[in-house]
Amino acid sequence: MADESLRTATAMVATEYGDPTTVVAARTVDIAPPGPGQVVVAVRAAGVNPVDGKVVRGLFGADPAALPRRIGSEAAGVVTAVGDGARYFDPDDDQRRDICVGDEVIVYRAVGGYAQALLADDTSVHPKPAALDFPVAAGLLLAGATAADMVGAADIRAGDTVVVHGGAGAVGTVAVQLARKAGATVIATAAPRNHDFLRALGAIPVAYGEGVADRIRGAAPGGVTAALDTVGTDEAIDTSLALGVPPTRIVSIAAFGRADDGIVIVDGSGGDSKRRREEAIAGLIAEATSGGLVVEVAKTFPLAQAGAALDELARAHPRGKFVLLP
Ligand SMILES: NC(=O)c1ccc[n+]([C@@H]2O[C@H](COP(=O)([O-])OP(=O)(O)OC[C@H]3O[C@@H](n4cnc5c(N)ncnc54)[C@H](OP(=O)(O)O)[C@@H]3O)[C@@H](O)[C@H]2O)c1
Repeated sequence: MADESLRTATAMVATEYGDPTTVVAARTVDIAPPGPGQVVVAVRAAGVNPVDGKVVRGLFGADPAALPRRIGSEAAGVVTAVGDGARYFDPDDDQRRDICVGDEVIVYRAVGGYAQALLADDTSVHPKPAALDFPVAAGLLLAGATAADMVGAADIRAGDTVVVHGGAGAVGTVAVQLARKAGATVIATAAPRNHDFLRALGAIPVAYGEGVADRIRGAAPGGVTAALDTVGTDEAIDTSLALGVPPTRIVSIAAFGRADDGIVIVDGSGGDSKRRREEAIAGLIAEATSGGLVVEVAKTFPLAQAGAALDELARAHPRGKFVLLP
């Protein structure tokens, strides 16, 4: 069932590896008809994530043969064409069903989300409830599934006192909420402008920077039992160790240089980490739809401003997700 109007689309691509403001450009790309188990999705919103900027800057490899390279790891939109046998689990029907033209969906992980349209395997396509806005849906799953992975890897439960480093970031915001739902006391590091927001989520905010360990001790006189690091600084890891958290309960998504300390680094690439992320998806969608999970959209940008959005995301920026609107 092909839609002639989506044989081509505008996509934002990395034309080279480097500064997103100069190397990210619009290109017309072919959208192949969906093969078995695939769908074409007309993108209504695309989530912007730090990983996309790292890909553009060449931090995950700079193979010239991969250029021009499509970017964007998650998106939400409407199905326009369906290949043979494309199906997904629909919680509304409590069963797997055929994906249909017109279905509103979330694509995670997407390949080339910064585009008017993309081709996706049905394993990456999830039903989007009508009550969940496209921009929120587009920014929900990468950060949300990562946070769920962290909370699972640290085995957070009632009675724990957890530090979330970077508690007001996209991943940190969800990690704070999931750790609270698990029954933990949560201390979250953040810039002072985000402290009221974190309090409203049930966390105890503290400023990061010099003296952070003492501020956390003051907030948690009974001690800290686990740490979730979304920042990757030596300060976050050294503080967690100085607080006496066992390395096996310090879970990081960014401190790749500190693996020798025995901390747990998760990246979704395999095993338990991948499984935890996949298992979290349906619950994250349901909770964000019901309002049980707060996911903020900080800013929307036209698709053509993808490079500027990536640049801003890599600097101090407003709290919440950045989202591109094709
Ligand atoms: N391994 C994985 O699977 C995985 C998955 C997703 C993301 N990541 C990585 O995780 C990191 C966070 O991603 P994100 O989407 O949450 O980014 P984000 O929304 O930009 O959040 C990052 C937050 O870090 C806080 N921050 C900045 N400097 C800090 C410091 N020195 N100490 C403590 N907090 C600080 C900022 O909060 P304030 O505004 O309060 O300063 C900022 O909001 C990125 O490096 C990303 O690439 C890894």
